[in-house]
Amino acid sequence: MDRIRVIGGSRLEGTIPISGAKNAALPLMIASLLTADTLTLKNVPQLADVIQLGRILGNHGVDLTIAGKRPGDAPGQGQTFRLTAHDIVDTVAPYEMVSRMRASFWVLGPLVARMGKAKVSLPGGCAIGTRPVDLHLEALRALGAQIDLEDGYVIASAPKGLSGGRISFAKVSVGATHNALMAAARAKGETIIENAAREPEVGDVAECLVKMGAKIDGIGTSTLTIQGADELKAAAHTVLPDRIETGTYAMAVAVTGGDVMLDNARADLLEEPLEVLRKAGVEITTTNRGIRISRNGAGLKPVKVETQPFPGFPTDLQAQLMALMSVAEGTSTIRETIFENRFMHVQELARLGADIALDGDVALVSGVKGLRGAQVMATDLRASVSLVIAGLAAEGETVINRVYHLDRGFERIEEKLSRCGAQIERLSA
Ligand code: EPZ
Repeated sequence: MDRIRVIGGSRLEGTIPISGAKNAALPLMIASLLTADTLTLKNVPQLADVIQLGRILGNHGVDLTIAGKRPGDAPGQGQTFRLTAHDIVDTVAPYEMVSRMRASFWVLGPLVARMGKAKVSLPGGCAIGTRPVDLHLEALRALGAQIDLEDGYVIASAPKGLSGGRISFAKVSVGATHNALMAAARAKGETIIENAAREPEVGDVAECLVKMGAKIDGIGTSTLTIQGADELKAAAHTVLPDRIETGTYAMAVAVTGGDVMLDNARADLLEEPLEVLRKAGVEITTTNRGIRISRNGAGLKPVKVETQPFPGFPTDLQAQLMALMSVAEGTSTIRETIFENRFMHVQELARLGADIALDGDVALVSGVKGLRGAQVMATDLRASVSLVIAGLAAEGETVINRVYHLDRGFERIEEKLSRCGAQIERLSA
């Protein structure tokens, strides 16, 4: 199994191109199930999760062609995917697939909307918490699907198709909003989704559905009104930049006291995290090329942060912020409100010398003068990258095991960082 070796202490300087957002690319790929025509997606990041979802969709009958890079393409430019679900050959998503990739559960809504039936495995537990699917099922019931649970599978049926309805989520869920939105795009009549997730990736999917022929009002707000269409048609859409990758590199630059331009990054997608970094003493300049991050000499100030759905501070940046704050001058308070078990990185950061005390959903991070390299291992994607950030600040060598987590969500991370002066390399097994 590959590992990543980081020798800490180098200041990052230069440019990092920001890729297309993983968490938009995945539901956008799934949206291809809604039409017999071709959906063209540009700026798709090269990630293990994207490849895996391509395989899963292939099982359902989606034909995927990937256009490679062309001469003259910008270095950060992603791939172009053409997805055609001319015939859906299988409406079953088996356990082996859904348990490996939770987002593949989101095929449920599109499949039942188009085919009148779907059988999708319950995703099961994962490293960051229990992650139930009750909200997904409630949404599809509101659109007229009958839902049965059998042998670990959700069986959804709507032989005469789905019809519009009112969905009022008791809790904000990104995945349930994606599922409901995609299903509503092919339901008869009007659907209103209240307390919808406002994450920019939801807005990106909604905009793509509009290009495919759905009518959607309220994009970017917590109330979405959708007029479903009998048929959706071919469309081309460019995946928006990855705000979590942006925030991650911003923290990596900050921890090394560097100066880096994050090309293609959009500040409007992560105002709250950028504000937190400013409060910590990081300089942030937004230009039409992207976001410039620098910290020259000044120490890092501690912060008080609570994770929240968008536009709040994202849970997907919590681990990275913790790594950064572990070398701040004082004690930071970080509260995780989205996933109950998302502190798996704490023990690994402690191996590098971080001083973090956990009390329920709160982590008290007392900044230390310096971290020291060690062997570490992570249990999820964002936890892994927090160890890279800590490794960049640590004295000596840090070896991060289980790199497959990183490959699921960060495109060419060692290349992007080493181009800016980091000493980082992949050790192939
Ligand atoms: C998405 O997961 C993201 N995944 C996650 O990113 C992200 O951490 C999360 O949203 C929150 O922003 C993708 O986009 C592929 P949720 P999702 O449904 O949709 C509870 C990463 O590292 N809930 O918004 O699965 C749930 O337990 C990943 O890229 C219910 O109670 O998250 C959690 O407490 C990790 N019932 C909260 O809602 C439900 O039916 C938010 O979860 C569904 C969710």
